[in-house]
Amino acid sequence: MKMKSGFRRLDAMLGGGLPAGTNILLSGGPGTGKTLFSLKFLLEGLKAGEKCCYITLSENRDELLRAAENIESLKDIRNHLSRKLAIEHIELGENITMKRFNEVISSYPAIDRLVIDNINKLLIHTESKKSYRIHLAELLKHLKSISRCTLLICETSEDSIDTGNGEAFECDGVMQLSFLEFEEKPMRILQIHKLRYTSFEPKTPHELTISAKDLNLADTKII
Ligand SMILES: Nc1ncnc2c1ncn2[C@@H]1O[C@H](COP(=O)(O)OP(=O)(O)O)[C@@H](O)[C@H]1O
Ligand SMILES: [Mg+2]
Repeated sequence: MKMKSGFRRLDAMLGGGLPAGTNILLSGGPGTGKTLFSLKFLLEGLKAGEKCCYITLSENRDELLRAAENIESLKDIRNHLSRKLAIEHIELGENITMKRFNEVISSYPAIDRLVIDNINKLLIHTESKKSYRIHLAELLKHLKSISRCTLLICETSEDSIDTGNGEAFECDGVMQLSFLEFEEKPMRILQIHKLRYTSFEPKTPHELTISAKDLNLADTKII
């Protein structure tokens, strides 16, 4: 069972879309488009009447909606609030540790699409790397039971695909957004490193454009 990603070109590359029953890591540096990409992914589900949730551990609900308002094709997100879309702003700290976060998640009703922005915040609010790895595996297991497809956003620097704490190994898929310096003008690119149950061209860069109108993945791949 495939789920449309919101990007026609990506769906075509993956034989119909993202495989259901998966947790997918969406990693990248600041400004590469992780949040907007995820909003478009949710909107695609909302259009088909799916139940969606955006858990934000960084920007608050208004900031997130403001980012969506800035792109014509994402404006409709607001109309789905209080119907099929929930935006949950959770501030981690002394009272909400990763253990508590996992408990909250496991109490959620079943939904179709979920975004967690971002898991670096979970790492910060965990006592040790060992504890983080244990809780991460537990979280990913919970996620599979409540959501048909989850995008876990991961902030990375340079060429890393995760925080170095096993996220890329534990997830079913890894998609990376980054900037490519190309003929003096940098461009945003999407690369797929891993996607279980799917055949694809690993690491082939595809241009992602962001404009006031829409986000788009280019038909042509960059060689
Ligand atoms: N209307 C717009 N036109 C062109 N680019 C935009 C527009 N709105 C946002 N962007 C670009 O999108 C970037 C933010 O994307 P975002 O998904 O928030 O990145 P990330 O979550 O990876 O940090 C901004 O830095 C900006 O360059
Ligand atoms: Mg973001």
